[in-house]
Amino acid sequence: MSPSRLVEHGGPDDGPPVAWDFSTNANPLPAPAAVRKALAEADRRHYPDPHYKALRARLAAHWQADADLVLPTAGSSEAIRRLSLAASLQGVCDVWVPDPGYGDYRAAAQALGLQVLGYADGPSLLSALAASAQPSLVWLCEPCNPTGQSLSAEFWAGLAAVMAERAGLIVALDRAYEPLRLDGEDPVPDAVARQCWQLWSPNKALGMTGVRAGAMLAPACTNTCLLPALQALAPSWVLSAEGVALWQAWCDESTQVWLAQARATLGDWRAAQQALLTALGWRVAPSVTPFFLARPPYPAVTDVDGRHRWLQALRAEGIKLRDAASLGLPGWVRLGTQGPEARDALQRALTRSDRHWKDAA
Ligand SMILES: Cc1ncc(COP(=O)(O)O)c(C=O)c1O
Repeated sequence: MSPSRLVEHGGPDDGPPVAWDFSTNANPLPAPAAVRKALAEADRRHYPDPHYKALRARLAAHWQADADLVLPTAGSSEAIRRLSLAASLQGVCDVWVPDPGYGDYRAAAQALGLQVLGYADGPSLLSALAASAQPSLVWLCEPCNPTGQSLSAEFWAGLAAVMAERAGLIVALDRAYEPLRLDGEDPVPDAVARQCWQLWSPNKALGMTGVRAGAMLAPACTNTCLLPALQALAPSWVLSAEGVALWQAWCDESTQVWLAQARATLGDWRAAQQALLTALGWRVAPSVTPFFLARPPYPAVTDVDGRHRWLQALRAEGIKLRDAASLGLPGWVRLGTQGPEARDALQRALTRSDRHWKDAA
């Protein structure tokens, strides 16, 4: 199996264009005009500054951090691979990943021959970490893909205690969906976040996933060789001109104001989408993000073939849902929130085929 086949993703595939794509977590609202203009004007004729000095200073000001701790990446996917490699070169053998969770953490560790250990929830991760002294890399996704859920305040307090005991523990905190948090506050205490390797990526919140852009924020007091290793492992000009432009636009006040309005709209759309599914007898799991897990009331989805037939039938009608089986949840799908037109298309397709799939074995 080729490495690219190991990780399954939502969004476009090798089939015809998807008319109503519920399989992606990206914001469906069109990015604001200023962001689109910044991208259109990105200077593609020249390399970006190889040291990204101005960009690192801008992001550092945005995050109230030290510019030396900001590492541009070609998106969080690249950051996941690079951090896993650097950790492995530092002698890490165990990699803890959320299960269910985003598949790239596991894939990156497996590609390096590291031992992958899944954890189902915060308390089980904390007990396992307290019981082991192995050099480890821990992946946390806050809020988590695919569940759209947050770890509790108790978890973050417990993690602080474990990190105080285990100085060498490398904790990576994936913040891909923090800008799309629709409910509640970021539960990660600032003091804990600043001890983690934070991975940030602007493209999902801006609905611009085709632009590969990200940045890692290193822990404030990193006493390991990890920071220089990560810098040394970065390809030259890791972030494209478009990536630089997207980040610069991200830091504009007007973009953040637009994002706050977008979150309010997405909250309304999510409520309508969840109400539609509930009315059709689906089980809908709680989530703080626009995406959420849901389980259709169809016996056929419990087996691989039945699920495949059902999803393919919807795909033929222009609707794509994300099968959550490869994320560790067979029988469930993950749906991103979409706007009213897409929701109407989903309602029509589901209503039309509801009886058939309820009866199909
Ligand atoms: C949790 C999580 N982290 C990282 C990524 C990848 O982000 P990027 O587009 O910045 O590579 C994704 C993409 O779906 C994701 O869901």
